[in-house]
Amino acid sequence: MKRRSAVAGVSLLLGGCDGTPLGYLDPAGPAARAIAGLGWGLIAISAAVCLIVLGLLSYAIGRERPPDSGALGGGSDRKAIRWIAVGTGISTVFLLGAAIWTLWAVRSVTNATTPPGLIIDVTGHQWWWEAHYRSNDPSREFTTANDLVIPVGVPVQVNLHSSDVIHSFWVPRLAGKTDTIPGVTNRTRIQAEREGIYRGQCTEFCGLEHAHMAFFVVAKNPGDFNTWWDHQLQSTTVDAANRGEQVFLDKCAACHAIRGTPAGGILGPNLSHFGSRTTIGAGALPNNSENLAYWIDHTQTVKPGSNMPSLDLPADQVAAVTAFLEGLK
Ligand code: CUA
Repeated sequence: MKRRSAVAGVSLLLGGCDGTPLGYLDPAGPAARAIAGLGWGLIAISAAVCLIVLGLLSYAIGRERPPDSGALGGGSDRKAIRWIAVGTGISTVFLLGAAIWTLWAVRSVTNATTPPGLIIDVTGHQWWWEAHYRSNDPSREFTTANDLVIPVGVPVQVNLHSSDVIHSFWVPRLAGKTDTIPGVTNRTRIQAEREGIYRGQCTEFCGLEHAHMAFFVVAKNPGDFNTWWDHQLQSTTVDAANRGEQVFLDKCAACHAIRGTPAGGILGPNLSHFGSRTTIGAGALPNNSENLAYWIDHTQTVKPGSNMPSLDLPADQVAAVTAFLEGLK
């Protein structure tokens, strides 16, 4: 099963375990578009400067030295000084232009003029993401993890917190990076122009499983988003006859919460509606029954160093709790 872990790691680097690429150069939101434009512009300016310098260098190398080149103050010195002035002037104009463009891009990304349509509090943990959806009506607030669902076309304010060390919140196709710092609340904005799944990644080294600290932004049309929100508020019923639920309450509830049940642990991700999530372990494995059963028994093989122990449960308990969790759609 080492192979599975290695494959998951490589696929996360290249494109996520569900094949979703990070897509730095494929912006799908206004902030990412401004940043991508700046990126291409700086590449173009750098390439032009390189070509001009190489051209002038080739010209200078290939040219014959004028006879008075040994004496200072000669005609060719004045010419050289003129060339230096021209070169410095061109460089200054290009660099100043690039600096102004950069400041403009930063300002357009950070100074939001429209009020947000949605506020989510996101907390970085070693090594997963907690998301708390805010509402004017406290009874409509809820907590989830690792998948952020947002409505298309709506500016979403993300308040960033950390429970332990510095992490960094990055969804390349939607916005730039913003750190999550213990004791500080940073803010960023994400907005998706169209429906889709946008991969996010912790981008500040934060310990052993930094690479397995992925998340997914799922952009839905506003109608589907409201349906999703209403569905998230639905609680799981307590069912003494559900063997998986009983195993969960016995073995998992100290660290994980599920709305509607006595399970209220806050050390690990809230697992309400877990069955509808994209991945297991913040991008460590695609979410399906086979992977979940493997994860429960081999957490420290898939994600060594994470706070969840390999539970080493009897096979029938693993099967029962897997069926219970995957059934929480
Ligand atoms: Cu969290 Cu890197």
